[in-house]
Amino acid sequence: MAEKATLTVGDKSYELPIVTGTENEKAIDISSLRASSGLITLDPGYKNTGSTSSAITFLDGEKGILRYRGYSIEDLAEKSSFLEVAYLLIYGNLPEKNDFETFKSEITHHTLIHEDIKSILDGFPSNSHPMGVLSSLVSSLTAFYPESLDPNRSAIGVDLSIKRLIAKLPTMAAWAFKNEIGHPVNYPDNRLDYCSNFLKMMFAVPSEDYEVDPVIANALDKLLILHADHEQNCSTSTVRIVGSSHASLYASIAAGISALWGPLHGGANQAVIEMLEGIKRDGGDVNKYMAKAKDKNDPFRLMGFGHRVYKNFDPRAKIIKKAADDVLDKLGIDDPVLEIAKGLEEIALRDEYFVERKLYPNVDFYSGIIYRALGIPTSMFTVMFALGRLPGWIAQWKEMRENKEPIGRPRQVYTGNQKVDFVPIDKR
Ligand code: CMC
Repeated sequence: MAEKATLTVGDKSYELPIVTGTENEKAIDISSLRASSGLITLDPGYKNTGSTSSAITFLDGEKGILRYRGYSIEDLAEKSSFLEVAYLLIYGNLPEKNDFETFKSEITHHTLIHEDIKSILDGFPSNSHPMGVLSSLVSSLTAFYPESLDPNRSAIGVDLSIKRLIAKLPTMAAWAFKNEIGHPVNYPDNRLDYCSNFLKMMFAVPSEDYEVDPVIANALDKLLILHADHEQNCSTSTVRIVGSSHASLYASIAAGISALWGPLHGGANQAVIEMLEGIKRDGGDVNKYMAKAKDKNDPFRLMGFGHRVYKNFDPRAKIIKKAADDVLDKLGIDDPVLEIAKGLEEIALRDEYFVERKLYPNVDFYSGIIYRALGIPTSMFTVMFALGRLPGWIAQWKEMRENKEPIGRPRQVYTGNQKVDFVPIDKR
């Protein structure tokens, strides 16, 4: 017999079905609750609310497990490539060799962006934060590809939008950086792989030879894999909810980029490095900052620590910590900020406040250190996260559409004034 939950309110009882996922996760399906009882549930921040059923990413926060389409993040980071992972997330299976070659070739041949996008870029002041520029440029694609505006028009058209977006995001990201520093942009070099092409657009200078260091390109590829999806987080939920109104893919992803920007989400990687540098400038006293993080009257938080879902080590953080050591070693870099990070981590893992609240380092604690070693400037850290998260956003948007999900529209409990009579301004 199907499992049910019973909700009793006063003298009435309501039976609610229990839904079980493939990993035995259970949820009470309350979709009929308001119609049968007039009640809604209240859950600020959706801490206990499943917004959807999804077959893309499995995450067990207690056990520290993360899998894309069933494949473990550890295996994918070690054995796969970012574009292969993108294919896996978006189409649901690992590609056969021929299909993958076609996919890569399609991505490679859409890397150029319309020259008029350069005029939009020129309209931004230098020093503009690249995340704001990136979100705007992605949104501008709706103007260059008006046929993409209606996602219901054709499945082939949607697939083309998907490939265009994966191909063009690195170009736009590198151009957003060039705008920030006031330098001329570089055009894509389609002879290079995805990450090498991005690095060349970021760092090549006219009239100087630029050779991509494979250590840097490989490390970047791994970082993008680790960020590629993370089920129903803030930016992904944003992408799904914007898309649920049948807004286009480009409009939905532009919104996701904005949601990612905040320091409690993707912006944490920039905030972590700024915090570590601040601690270093202040003499490197990690204990002082631990005390600040625990002081409820101090707004300071230990950035890169804690996670809404992981109540154990973030598996991505484990891989990144090791990768940070490897990359620094291979590039012969000695970063004092890494020592401060390790010092903070060591204290936090033993500290009662952090242990009690299950606050562990998250993906962003060490990623900034690798980005710095790779030469990526701090303002671009969250852009790197966006590059990595793109296939996940696309896969989730596509799944939401294929499942014909209804428009996202939460309810509320109203706490404002009851009806008041209007008083004209001269009588107030
Ligand atoms: N430093 C100090 N105290 C913390 C921290 C922190 N980084 N994170 C959580 N706490 C405390 C918090 O004050 C609260 O204490 P109390 O129970 O005494 O009120 C308790 O731990 C629970 O925190 P919460 O804010 O209710 O938890 P949440 O699930 O709403 O927030 C979080 C999760 C990630 C926003 C939060 O841990 C945080 O702000 N961390 C720092 C920012 C960060 O690193 N974000 C990146 C997340 S990983 C990348 C991504 O996927 O977006």
